[in-house]
Amino acid sequence: MNNDISKVLVTEQEIVQICKTLGGKITKDYQDKQPILIGLLKGCMPFMSDLSRQIDLKFDMAYMSVSSYHGGIASSGDVKIKMDLDISIKGRDVLIVEDIVDTANTIVTIVELFKHRGANSVKIVTLLDKPEGRLRPFEPEYVGRVIPKEFVVGYGLDYNEYYRNLPYVGVLKPEIYNH
Ligand code: IMP
Repeated sequence: MNNDISKVLVTEQEIVQICKTLGGKITKDYQDKQPILIGLLKGCMPFMSDLSRQIDLKFDMAYMSVSSYHGGIASSGDVKIKMDLDISIKGRDVLIVEDIVDTANTIVTIVELFKHRGANSVKIVTLLDKPEGRLRPFEPEYVGRVIPKEFVVGYGLDYNEYYRNLPYVGVLKPEIYNH
């Protein structure tokens, strides 16, 4: 698996540091609130797990499965809910946990949906941000690392469902998705 990676962009040690820093900020900002962390599956899994343990607050967690890729390396722009929340978010302070924001099609659609469902506030924490990929303006409140417009895998991020279990984030060799 490691042979399919051309370079490591975010190391395991950097990820540990990112989770500590973001967890600390979120703990401070939500001091007098009881937020709900909503992870967007499947990419959020390792990040949600590590980040949540760095947040020193009482909060609950929920998951939703959305998809804008139908295999491959480009967003289709068509956001589908594959599995919805099992709780109401009316009046809640929602913190969405994302692996990466690229075009922002996914996150803008979900933020609009959550506001429509009556959330009191909706903020985003994302491990990675690819601002050069934006098709619509959007700035996440909490960003682990800004990365260039390259297709990355690992630590939850996949190519055709593989590589999610890499402990770091790396750039996939183009020959893997070009053949
Ligand atoms: P967006 O809607 O284009 O912002 O994309 C968001 C979703 O696309 C993310 O949650 C990922 O699942 C996927 N995605 C975007 N960029 C990458 C990448 O470089 N590698 C793997 N998945 C990606």
